[in-house]
Amino acid sequence: MSILTFADYNEALEEQWWARVAQLISNEGFVVVDDFLNSETARLLRNEIDAKDAENELRRAGIGKDFQFQKNLSQRGDFIAWIEKQEVSNETELFINRMETAMKLLNRNLFLGLKDFETHFTHYPPGTFYKRHADRFHENAHRVLSFVCYLNQGWLPEDGGQLLVYNNDETTVVEPIEGRLIIFQSQLEHEVLLTTKSRYSITGWMLDQLEGLTFL
Ligand code: OGA
Ligand code: MN
Repeated sequence: MSILTFADYNEALEEQWWARVAQLISNEGFVVVDDFLNSETARLLRNEIDAKDAENELRRAGIGKDFQFQKNLSQRGDFIAWIEKQEVSNETELFINRMETAMKLLNRNLFLGLKDFETHFTHYPPGTFYKRHADRFHENAHRVLSFVCYLNQGWLPEDGGQLLVYNNDETTVVEPIEGRLIIFQSQLEHEVLLTTKSRYSITGWMLDQLEGLTFL
């Protein structure tokens, strides 16, 4: 597994930096970027998810944009809130701006026809998981690259909640540690193992269609 670190990122070199990410996505199917968000930003985003939870703004995943709701109930146990890009906190805006740059520069390198991304806050309560699946399938053909940024402070292997990514004959185990971003090709199968602690992330998809038009 290739792990880059955002600690050595600077704007003057952003083209080269994202070109390296693009190369890894193309060669290996996915890339892990550590320290994409610092600990303070991750903490504020965790608080934001907890606040949404307290306000009853998180929904069982599968409602709304997803036509496979019944199936999803046994497949996955996460709770989500879609992010409206126009009305966000400073921390969410920082994340969205970084992903916009990422999308633009990955597109330039990979010619994926990326036009937009959709993203949501995610909370897996203790005892939940997401069984093996792919994010790009016939009902959802516009998802090209998936990304997940983890917000879990002090996560330990025994806490579970690992992401497994299946590529050819290889299975890669990714720990959902604070500040870590993974970007992977949406057709790759993957799963989230049972978590024993609350597991927080921002999850999203870069699309080859505008966000509101993905049902077309
Ligand atoms: C998803 C998903 C992976 C993760 O939301 O589709 O596979 O590590 N998430 O949270
Ligand atoms: Mn997925």
